[in-house]
Amino acid sequence: MSSTEEIAPRPLAPGLLRLDGISRATMEAQHRVYAAAVAKRNEIVAALAAADRDAAHHLYSPYRELKLELTSALAEVKGHEVFFGHLGGAGGDPAGAFARLADHAFGSVGAWRDDFRATAMASRGWAFAAYDWDERRLANHIGEQGAAPVWNATPLVALDVCEHAYAIDYQTDRTSYVDAFLENVDWDVVNGWIAAYAIPL
Ligand SMILES: [Fe+2]
Repeated sequence: MSSTEEIAPRPLAPGLLRLDGISRATMEAQHRVYAAAVAKRNEIVAALAAADRDAAHHLYSPYRELKLELTSALAEVKGHEVFFGHLGGAGGDPAGAFARLADHAFGSVGAWRDDFRATAMASRGWAFAAYDWDERRLANHIGEQGAAPVWNATPLVALDVCEHAYAIDYQTDRTSYVDAFLENVDWDVVNGWIAAYAIPL
């Protein structure tokens, strides 16, 4: 695979158009935002292949700008893929493997959820619950301005709190949107990721 190979947006699963409390219009908008990020990723990768590496400079250079925007575009691509991947479930309190990670790191599922909700309210972009392979524990992080929240951590829950995620359904009421999100997470999917990544419990 060459480094300039294009990626394609994943299709929106039909079940994601029938969520409780998150409208079809919102999810269609989400998919447009995601598909645009995929297209920008492809455009930037192609531009990088043609850009002058010898002119790369940390104060300003096309190479610098393209590399920064590639990080930004990829963060949107990856965030939305996790977001879409774990919606469409019954929500509620997590059980099984994720609950064990939450218990271990936060003392209880409720304490994890309280911190995750606060993380979402404090963010200008994304809230992630990720397993940190160095600390060997679950942690909640803000993801903003395209940057991955931390290295060597695997996202297990990704909550989009950009305006397009909730303005259609809730105007400025982000709290209600966060509640709706948590009522649509498919914890079986999340637990499947924990198993697939061989995250130790
Ligand atoms: Fe989004």
